[in-house]
Amino acid sequence: MKILVTGGAGYIGSHTCVELLDAGYDIVVIDNFSNSDMAAIDGVKQITGKDIPFYQADLRDMAALDQIFTDHRIDCIIHFAGKKAVGESVAMPVEYYDNNLNSTLNLCKAMEKYDVTKLIFSSSATVYRGDNPMPLTEDAALGPINPYGWSKFMCEQILQDAAAANGWSVVLLRYFNPVGAHTSGIIGENPRGIPNNLIPFIAQTACGTHRELNIFGDDYDTPDGTGVRDYIHVVDLALGHIKAMDYCNKNTGCAVFNLGTGKGVSVLEMVETFKRVNQVDVPYAIAPRRPGDSATSYADPAKAEQILGFRAAKSVEDMCRDSWGFNRR
Ligand code: NAD
Ligand code: WQD
Repeated sequence: MKILVTGGAGYIGSHTCVELLDAGYDIVVIDNFSNSDMAAIDGVKQITGKDIPFYQADLRDMAALDQIFTDHRIDCIIHFAGKKAVGESVAMPVEYYDNNLNSTLNLCKAMEKYDVTKLIFSSSATVYRGDNPMPLTEDAALGPINPYGWSKFMCEQILQDAAAANGWSVVLLRYFNPVGAHTSGIIGENPRGIPNNLIPFIAQTACGTHRELNIFGDDYDTPDGTGVRDYIHVVDLALGHIKAMDYCNKNTGCAVFNLGTGKGVSVLEMVETFKRVNQVDVPYAIAPRRPGDSATSYADPAKAEQILGFRAAKSVEDMCRDSWGFNRR
C-alpha cells in the first residue's frame, strides 16, 4: 500500500514516516519546508535504512499534486501539512486560512481526480470549546477561539462533506499535546525561533538557551494551580496513524477520534519530571496567565481504544527523556 504523507518533514509527520516504513508501507512525502528542512527526511532514512520519494512542493500548487499522483498510484493520504502556531494565526489569519484550507481542498480535488478514497487528517483538541466537562469525548461541544483552531474545524467539515458525497473513508484525528522525540535522538521537534510550546521551551532552558521558563499562571483551579494538559509521546501518536489506516481500510464514511493518554499533567509536574529524569536544572518563574489558555484539557481516549485498538504506551518520563535526547545534541 502506498501512502502520500503531506508535511512528512515536520515533527509528527517525520515520526509517522518512520513507523509507516517499519510497518512495511510504501510512502511518498510532500513538504514545502515552510517549517522544516531536509534534515528530518535524512533522519527518517537513517533510522529506517530506506529511501523515500520526496517532493519539495506546496500543496496549494495543483500542478505539483498532478505530478505526484501521476508518478505514483496513491492508496491513502495522511495529511499533516499545515501551519500550526496559534499566536501567528491571530496575527496572520488570511495566510493561515489560505494555507490550511486550500491545501486540504486541493487534496480533495486530487482524490476526486485520481480516485483516491482514503484520508487521515491531523486535527486538534483545539477544536473543542473551552467550557466542556473533562475528559473530552469526541462529541463534546466544538468552538475554537483562534484562526488556527477554526482552520482545523473548517477542514474537518470539508472532509466530512466530501467523504459523504464521494463514499470516501476519512479519519479525523484530534491530537492532544504531542511531545517527545524518537528514542534514537535523530529526529524530534525543532521549532523555529522562540518556542511557544512548553516542552521545547523547557528543553531549551535546560540547554541554557533561555535564562528561565515562564510558567503561565499558578492560580488555576487545578491541583497545583498550573495548567493541566494531556501530553502524548509523538511515537505513540505516530502509531495511532497506523491503527487509523487499518480502520480506513475496513470502513467508509467519516470518523473522529481523540488521540491522547487520558491523563492530565500539570506544568509543574512536567518541569519536575524533566529535571528528575534528565538530571538537569530548569529555572522557572511564575508569570501571568497566557491569553486564551484554559485551566485543564485532557482526552477521553476510550473511543480510540475500543474502535481503533489504540492505547498510548509511553510515560511522562519517556516523553521528558526522549525530548532531552534530541535537544541536548
Ligand atoms: P510541523 O510544522 O512540524 O509540520 C507541518 C509540516 O507541513 C511542515 O514540515 C511544513 O513545512 C509543512 N507544510 C505546511 N504547509 C504546507 C503546504 N502548504 N504545502 C506543503 N507542506 C506544508 O507541525 P506538526 O507539529 O508536525 O503538526 C502536524 C499537523 O498536526 C499539523 O496539521 C498541525 O496543525 C497538527 N497538530 C499539531 C499539534 C502539535 O502540537 N504539534 C497538535 C494538534 C494538531
Ligand atoms: C501547555 C501548558 C501553558 C509554555 C497548543 C495549541 C494547541 C495544540 C497544542 C496544535 C499550558 C503552559 C507553555 C510556556 C507555560 N497545537 N506553558 N510556559 O497551549 O495546550 O496547546 O499546542 O493543534 O492548539 O494551543 O500547549 O505547550 O503551549 O502549553 O507555562 O513557556 O504549558 O500555559 O498550560 P497548549 P503548550
